[in-house]
Order: sequence, then C-alpha cells, then structure tokens
Amino acid sequence: MDLLLSAANSALLTAHDLRRDVEVGLFLLGPPDPPRFIRLVGYQLRSWQPDVRSNAALVRKALEHASRVEHETSPGIFASKASFEEALDRLGPSFVYLKEGGKDVRDLLVPADATFVLSDNQDLAPEEERAVLRRDALVVGLGPTSLHADQAISIVHNELDRRHV
Ligand SMILES: C[S@@+](CC[C@H](N)C(=O)[O-])C[C@H]1O[C@@H](n2cnc3c(N)ncnc32)[C@H](O)[C@@H]1O
Repeated sequence: MDLLLSAANSALLTAHDLRRDVEVGLFLLGPPDPPRFIRLVGYQLRSWQPDVRSNAALVRKALEHASRVEHETSPGIFASKASFEEALDRLGPSFVYLKEGGKDVRDLLVPADATFVLSDNQDLAPEEERAVLRRDALVVGLGPTSLHADQAISIVHNELDRRHV
C-alpha cells in the first residue's frame, strides 16, 4: 500500500497543485478480497493530499466497496472489483509498458493519452504481461537503473512535461 500511495502521489502531485489531466489506476491483489481496482481522476479529486496517511484513509474507504459495479466512494475516487484485463480496458486507449531494458523513452514518440503500466516491487506476472502486450503496448525503458515505481513515474512526467510545454 505504501508503494501504491507513493506512486499515486508521484503521478498526481506537483509542488502546488494536482495534475488535473492525470488518471491513476491502482490494481490491488492483496487479501482479503482481491482483485480490486481504484481509479483516481485528477480533475475530480477534492481531498487528495501530499500526506500519504490521509490518502490511505481515502483508499481504505474505497476498498469497502466490493461490487463489480464501479462506485464513486469520494470525489474523484472510483472503486470496483475488476480483473486486470478489465482494469486495463477502463484505461487505455494506448499503452506504454515501463520495463527495465525497454526501448529508451528518449528515442520514442509517446502516444497521446497513453496509459503507463508499472509493477510494484515485483515484476508483472507472465499472464499480466501478456495482457498488456496484447494491447499493443510500447515497451519503454527509462535508463540503466532499476527504480521504484514512484521514481519511474517522476521521470516519465519530466520527459512529457519537457515535450508538451
Ligand atoms: C521496483 S521496479 C520492479 C522490480 C524490479 N524489476 C526488480 O528487479 O526489483 C518497479 C517498476 O518501475 C518501473 N521501472 C523501474 N525502473 C525502470 C527503468 N529503468 N525503466 C523502465 N521502467 C522502470 C517498472 O514498471 C518496474 O516494474
């Protein structure tokens, strides 16, 4: 959960604001009732903060909703029970799979409105990786160092910020 919350903060926060054009999908497989999918929609969020503990409370509230029908549990926070493939299909439309050793991000044109797929402290399971690749994901690397997911997200934002100012 710490990893996910740090990654969400890297995806959503700038020094003085939220990135309103970002949507974060958190896919959780931990007990007691996996799988769960939580979407954080930047332009609708009201209570997301740099403080990870208060965000954890929002995520805990979202996890109380275990229906397959998505429900907004707090402004901008949508929860459901969904498979990995269903979660991917609610994101999209194009995918970039961030993976050590992938094609260098600096040599690539990143598709507009892409969803970036990252794992936590373990690599994606083979069937999850296949699901991403079936969706024609670009496999993209960020350099020679293996990073934490939140660090990788900050680098991607920096690359995109420089291209789209
Ligand atoms: C902590 S890493 C995953 C575990 C890592 N493969 C290992 O051997 O420990 C978390 C995720 O951040 C992304 N990531 C980290 N470093 C990266 C890099 N150099 N290039 C592209 N993605 C990276 C990948 O999505 C990776 O799955």
